[in-house]
Amino acid sequence: MNHIRVNGLRGVELAVFDLKQTVEFYCNSWGLEEVATDGGAMYLRGTGAEHHVLTVHERPRAGLVAINFSADDSRAVDGLHARALSMGVEVIDAPHVLPAIAGGGYGFSLRSPEGQALNISCDVEGHAVTVTDRSRPEKLSHVVLNVEDIERQERFFCDVLGFRLTDSTARMNFIRCSSYHHSIALARAQGAGLNHMAYEIPNFDGVMRGAGRLKKAGYGIEWGVGRHGPGNNIFSYFIEPNGFVTEYTTEVDTVDESTHVVGTPDYWAGLMNGPDRWGLAEPSKALREAMSGKFTDERNMLCEDVISRKLAG
Ligand SMILES: [Fe+2]
Repeated sequence: MNHIRVNGLRGVELAVFDLKQTVEFYCNSWGLEEVATDGGAMYLRGTGAEHHVLTVHERPRAGLVAINFSADDSRAVDGLHARALSMGVEVIDAPHVLPAIAGGGYGFSLRSPEGQALNISCDVEGHAVTVTDRSRPEKLSHVVLNVEDIERQERFFCDVLGFRLTDSTARMNFIRCSSYHHSIALARAQGAGLNHMAYEIPNFDGVMRGAGRLKKAGYGIEWGVGRHGPGNNIFSYFIEPNGFVTEYTTEVDTVDESTHVVGTPDYWAGLMNGPDRWGLAEPSKALREAMSGKFTDERNMLCEDVISRKLAG
């Protein structure tokens, strides 16, 4: 593959209603760990080497702030920036040295055709791997975006950032930026937004123990435990305090570039009846709604209502 490309998923950045409540969930129940805090933002790491896999910003409106990707080196970062400019993509800033509090490094930001901010960086400081509990997330596995124009979004990720299509179903396209089956998936939807994010757990036993920990904390499994078709990954889905959908996953396929054949919607429809290979798991109504962004939107509207009434009063 071309050197001038994104080569991995680092993390996701979310705007949240209540930083304290959100951090309590992600540290005490989800299994991440605080790395640094900077005003209204907090950086959380998994057990893997990545400096942080989740950044949470306290803001009046909850939502996806950005997705963070890695590139090989400064030449790749500069090359991606130049390519984005030459292709008329909205570039948010030019490559620059990144803040030390977030692990430093060198990078820039751009925007996808449907408005998501994407940060691309290299040379970010990592951590020693601390796998002491295999029920805790190692890293961010994938982010699924709801998209209005799937072909346009896919062309952007592939042509500008160097992604490749791994599998395609009637509803979703799974795209990769490394040998990992997919780091991004695009889901056909009515509006653009975050469908869900998934964190990789080292093994199946860890997924089950993690799910048990969440259940005890009052967060029941909303979908799972099951095994997906594309990616062959075991999954377990939850709704976190801001209404975002978050997943524990494990055993994600890797792709051999020399032999891989893209799975088509017909291939997957013929192989499976639904998105769970085991045929046991059905998503709850609440999960479907949360994946559409309904809960977060409703809370945003409620907050706006309270603010406007305060201003009026
Ligand atoms: Fe997923």
